[in-house]
Amino acid sequence: MSIIHYSFQEYIIARLVYSTVYLILLVYSQNFVRAQTAETSSDTRQRISINNNWRFFKYDSTAIADNLIYDVRPTVNDNQDNKPTDTEPTEAENIDANQMVLKPWILPTSNDFIINPAKYFVRPEGNPGSDFPFVQKDFDDSSWEIVNLPHDWAIKGPFYEGPNPEVGGGMGRLPSPGIAWYRKKLDIPASDSGKSIFLDIDGAMSYAMVWLNGNLVGGWPYGYASWRLDLTPYIVPGNENQLAIRLDNPNNSSRWYPGGGIYRNVWLVITSAVHVGHWGTYITTSDVSNSSADINLEITIDNDSPNDAAVKTITKIFELDSDGRLKGDAVTEIKTSETKITAGLRGKVEGSVIINNPKLWGPAPTQFPNRYFAVTSLYQSEEQIDQYETIFGIRSLNFNPKSGVYINGDLIKIKGVNQHHDLGALGAAFNTRAAERQLEILKEMGCNAIRTAHNPPAPEVLELTDRMGFLVMDEAFDVWEREKTPLDFHLIFPEWHEQDLRSMIRRDRNHPSVIIWSYGNEVGEQYTDQEGAELGKLLSDILKEEDPTRPTTSAMNWAKPNMPFPAVMDVISLNYQGEGIRQDSIFEGTNRIRTAPQYNAFHKKFPDKVILSSETASAFSSRGIYLFPVVDDISSYVRDGRGGDSKIHQVSSYELYAVDFGSSADKVFSSIEHHPFMAGEFVWNGFDYIGEPTPYYEARSSYSGIIDLAGFSKDRFYIYQSYWCPELPMVHILPHWNWSERVGEITPVHVFTSGNEAELFLNGKSLGRKKKAQYEYRLRWDDVKYEPGELKVIAYNNGAEWAAAVLKTTDEPAGLEAFADRIEIKADGKDLSFITVNVIDKNKLTVPTANNKIKFEIEGPGEIVATDNGDPTNFTPFPSHERKAFSGLALGIVRSKSGVSGFITVTVTSPGLKEVQVVINSQ
Ligand code: GAL
Repeated sequence: MSIIHYSFQEYIIARLVYSTVYLILLVYSQNFVRAQTAETSSDTRQRISINNNWRFFKYDSTAIADNLIYDVRPTVNDNQDNKPTDTEPTEAENIDANQMVLKPWILPTSNDFIINPAKYFVRPEGNPGSDFPFVQKDFDDSSWEIVNLPHDWAIKGPFYEGPNPEVGGGMGRLPSPGIAWYRKKLDIPASDSGKSIFLDIDGAMSYAMVWLNGNLVGGWPYGYASWRLDLTPYIVPGNENQLAIRLDNPNNSSRWYPGGGIYRNVWLVITSAVHVGHWGTYITTSDVSNSSADINLEITIDNDSPNDAAVKTITKIFELDSDGRLKGDAVTEIKTSETKITAGLRGKVEGSVIINNPKLWGPAPTQFPNRYFAVTSLYQSEEQIDQYETIFGIRSLNFNPKSGVYINGDLIKIKGVNQHHDLGALGAAFNTRAAERQLEILKEMGCNAIRTAHNPPAPEVLELTDRMGFLVMDEAFDVWEREKTPLDFHLIFPEWHEQDLRSMIRRDRNHPSVIIWSYGNEVGEQYTDQEGAELGKLLSDILKEEDPTRPTTSAMNWAKPNMPFPAVMDVISLNYQGEGIRQDSIFEGTNRIRTAPQYNAFHKKFPDKVILSSETASAFSSRGIYLFPVVDDISSYVRDGRGGDSKIHQVSSYELYAVDFGSSADKVFSSIEHHPFMAGEFVWNGFDYIGEPTPYYEARSSYSGIIDLAGFSKDRFYIYQSYWCPELPMVHILPHWNWSERVGEITPVHVFTSGNEAELFLNGKSLGRKKKAQYEYRLRWDDVKYEPGELKVIAYNNGAEWAAAVLKTTDEPAGLEAFADRIEIKADGKDLSFITVNVIDKNKLTVPTANNKIKFEIEGPGEIVATDNGDPTNFTPFPSHERKAFSGLALGIVRSKSGVSGFITVTVTSPGLKEVQVVINSQ
C-alpha cells in the first residue's frame, strides 16, 4: 500500500506543485472524455446524475409496513445462517399467492431482455398503489430523512450483537433487511416535451418498484442488476414530477452482507424519441495484431416516435490516454448506410473498419491497458438527433487448454482474487475512489484479475479494471432454482434469469477487461445430474447469444468430471477441488464434501477446455494476531489450539489456516505449479467483506481476506506478493516481536520473500540460512525461542543479496502517526482520503499489540464518513469517530464536501498519547 506522509514544509511544497499541475490539468480537461458512468450533456442527449437530495423513510419493522408487495414469500423455517458454505443447496419452495401482488406490473420492465416476443410480459389493467400516500405528489415527506445516493441504509448500524441476533453473522449483523421508500421531485422543462426520458438505476437492494406521479411504472427485483425504466408515458414536462421508489430487502436472503437501499448511482437520461438504445452499442475486435485490427460495431436504435425513421450513423474513434483523456483527432470512423426503423420498434445497424497499428489493451504489468473512445452520432434527414459514447479496447483473447489464457498472443497466468461488492466501512454504497483504492492495493500485491463474486459489479468497477489493466470474470449468480438461504435469488430465478443475464452482458460486453462470463457459483444444480446440466446449458447459451466472443463458465465445488454439469461450460472453473477437499483424516465419516485433488481428472476428461480455479484457499487470519502452537503442516483446518480461538473469535496470522474445505496459499501454489495446464487462480478472497465470518459467526465480517476490512494488509499479502511479483526484491517477517509473556518459549518465525534463500538473525546471532526447496513458498524457523530485541532477515536470490527487513520489540505506546493515502482530493462530495493511524512507541515504531482508543476530529470542508480497524469482532458502528486501534492500526475515511474547496485538518487523539494532525487539500 503506498502511503504518503508529509511534514508541513513538504506539504506546502507539494501544494505549490499541485496547484501548478492542477492548472495545467484544467486546461487539458476540456478533452477529458465522459465515460458511460459520468454525467454527459450534448445537444441531443443528457445523462444527469440525480443522486442528491432524496427523501428517505424506512419502516421500523416489516410487520407494520404497507402491503404493496412484489410477491408472497415462503415462511422461513430454518434461519440458521452459519451452515458450512458448501452445504448442499435445497429444493426451492413453491408458494401460491392469495394476496394482491405487484409482480405482474413489474415484470414487463424486463421485456427488452427477453429474446422471444411470445414470452413478453403484458402489463395488466390497473394501477396498483396509486392511492397509497407515499406515491402521491402532494404527500408531505418533509419529516423524512434527506439522503444522497449511493445510499446504504444499513451501514450505520448498530450491529446486532450477542446470540440469536435478528440479523445473523452471515449477513453481517447489520440492519440491511427491511422495507423503505425513497422520494424525489424531478423538474422536467417543457422543452423536453416529445423527448424520451429514462430512469437508469445502477443498483437498488432490492425488489425495487417505482411510481411516477402516482403511476406504477415498473421495477426490478435483483439487487445487483442495473436497469432502466421508461418514464416517458408518465412524465409531465414543464412540471414537477414525483418519483417514489419502494425497496423491500428480505432477511435470510443472502450468504453475505447485501447492504440495503439505492446503493449505486441513479441517472436521468433524456434523448430524442429516435435514439441509440439502452447499452445500445456492441463493439468487438477481431484479427487483432500489432499492425492491424478489425473493429466491428453493432448499434441498436430505438424509434419511440409515432413515425418511421430513416437513420444513418457515423462513429468516430479516438485514442484515450491512461487518464482517460482524448489523444488528438479521430483515428478512424465507421459509417452505416441509411436504415429504416419502424415507428415504435427497435432496429440494428452494423459496420466495421480496419484500424492500422492499433494500441492494444492488455493487462498490467506486462502489457498496457490502452483504450479507445467511440462517439456515435445518429442522423435523421441530415440532422443529428443523438450522440452516444462507448469506451472499448482492442485485444485478442485465446484460450489454450494446455496452458491457459492468451491476451494479444502472450500467456497471462491468472493471479486473481474474488471480490465482494461491499467497500468495508462504507458498506455497499458505491464509491469509485474506494473501489480504486482496493484495486491499487491488489495491484501492488501482483494481482492481475478479479472475479466479481457472485454478482454483477457496479458499472464503475469495470471502468476501473479496464483503465488499470485487470482481467475480470464477470459473474451473474450465486443461486439458480435451488436455495442456499431461504429467501435468496431462487425465488425470482424462474421469471428473471434470462433478463438478468442478458442485461448484464449488454451492459458489460464492451469492457476489454472482461474475459469470461460466469453464470453461477456452486449452484445446487450441480447435484441434479442431467436436469442441472440442461439448465446450465440454457444459461450458457443465453450468454453466448449475447456475446459469442468470450467463454462461459460456472464455478464447481462438487460436480465431478464424469457428471453432465461441467460438460456444458466452455471453461472449467473449480472451487477448492483442485487441491482436494477435506482430505484430512478428521473428516473421515462426516457427511461433508470430501474430494481428492481433481485437476488431472478434469484435464483428462476435458482435454479441450481451459481449467482454472475460480476459488482457492479460503484461508483465514486476523491481522496481527498470532496463536500458539503453530502447526507443522503447510496447511491446516482451524480449531481451538490449531490456529483458532473460539473465545476471542480470532484466527492466527501464521497464514497456515483455512476453512475445512480450503488450503493455505502455499498448498495452492504448489498444486497449481504441479499442473502447468492450469490457467491460474482466483483466491478466496482479496479484501475482507462484511458478513460470512466463518469460522466465528459471533463476529461481523470475514477472516478470509488477504487484506482486512479496513484495507490493511495481513501477512498473507506478502506471501502472494513474493510469489506473484518475482522481480520485486522483498522480504517479510512474521510474527511481531512483542512477546513479553513468551520469553524462552518456542515462537516460530516465518519469512516470505521473492528471493530463494534467507538468513535470520536474532539479536545479531544467526539462526541459520535457509533455502526454499522446489514447491516451497516460505522459509520457516520453527524452533526459535523468544527473547526480546531484534529480528533481522537478509534475503538472497540466486546467491546475491536481494532484500532485508528488521523487526524490533517495541516499547509502550507513546504517540500516534497518521498518513493520508492522498493529501489532494477533489471537492466533489465523493472523493475520499483514507487516513491510517499507527500507535507508536517513543522510537516511532508501530506497537503491534496496541489497542488504544483513537478519536478523529475534523475541521474544514470535509467529513469523517467512517472509521475501522480491520477487527472482525469490532462492533463499534462504522460512522463512529472513536474506535480502538486493532494490532496497532486504525483507519479514518474522509470525504470532501461538494463545491467547497479548502484545507481539511484531521486531528487524531488518544488518551495519554501525543496527538497528530493530517492536512488534506480539497479542490
Ligand atoms: C465458497 C463460496 C464463497 C464463500 C467461500 C467461503 O464455497 O463459493 O462464496 O462462501 O466458500 O469460504
